[in-house]
Amino acid sequence: MTKKLSNLNEKKRILIVLELEKFDIKLNTDFIGRNFIYAEEINSTNSYLLDKKNKNLVDGTVVFAEKQTEGRGRKNRVWYSVKEQNLNFSILLTNRKYFPKNINLINFASSLAVALSIENLFQLNASLKWPNDVLINNKKVCGILLEAVSQGSKIEQLVIGIGINVNQSTFQGTFNIPPTSIRLEMNETIERERLLAEVLNSFEEILYETLSNPKEIMRDWKSRCRMIGEKIEVNEGNSIKYGIFDDIDESGTLLLKTKDKIEKIHLGDVSLL
Ligand code: BTN
Repeated sequence: MTKKLSNLNEKKRILIVLELEKFDIKLNTDFIGRNFIYAEEINSTNSYLLDKKNKNLVDGTVVFAEKQTEGRGRKNRVWYSVKEQNLNFSILLTNRKYFPKNINLINFASSLAVALSIENLFQLNASLKWPNDVLINNKKVCGILLEAVSQGSKIEQLVIGIGINVNQSTFQGTFNIPPTSIRLEMNETIERERLLAEVLNSFEEILYETLSNPKEIMRDWKSRCRMIGEKIEVNEGNSIKYGIFDDIDESGTLLLKTKDKIEKIHLGDVSLL
């Protein structure tokens, strides 16, 4: 099931790099991650799957990288992650039968899968921040970048890029939400293989549920979003809006209650006031 982009069998590195056998034994999916591409270094796992040269990869392919030289975040931000410490990977979906009617639901499904995996494995409370960040103790532990390739109005490919801070212990730079890692929160080194398998198992299960029971996914997601009902600031890039985070509608849009109306927010950075 495993295809490697580079040879990782040097004995001295075996404890640092991802051990594919350990991951494989925990993977319990029908198709997600069954074709697994491991890269020691790559520009970006999302870019790899979006590259036309790789358009024949099977549905559910997962590309994992120990290091990304051009890791990307939302709004053209850089996603930086120390080599071999974290989980940086992308999932490819090509079969439209697994696309929920509202593609935005994939954002909620993926962040929910990460939050549930962290809760199950480490008994940490993971909360969710609109549209798709995962937080522990109000600090960001995971970011998700969903990208699509369309032909006309038809979506042909979905790429879900997930970056989880697992064992990184220091962070440099300026952040709009302070970062953390699971190791920092647990005070111990974390086995990445088990977490990766758990996230993929959980993602597939939730993906099926987005098709059969989308309302339940949104209910679960909202129950982990601590900002609903609170006063917030929404930075849309060229404007800042203030109001109460009223709700998230069925299409995943944030509803902001201002003095005299409810405004729909499709994109933006949200913070508590
Ligand atoms: C964000 O919080 O802004 C989203 C960060 C997404 C990072 C992941 S890491 C794997 C995948 N490849 C990328 O270049 N980005 C995503």
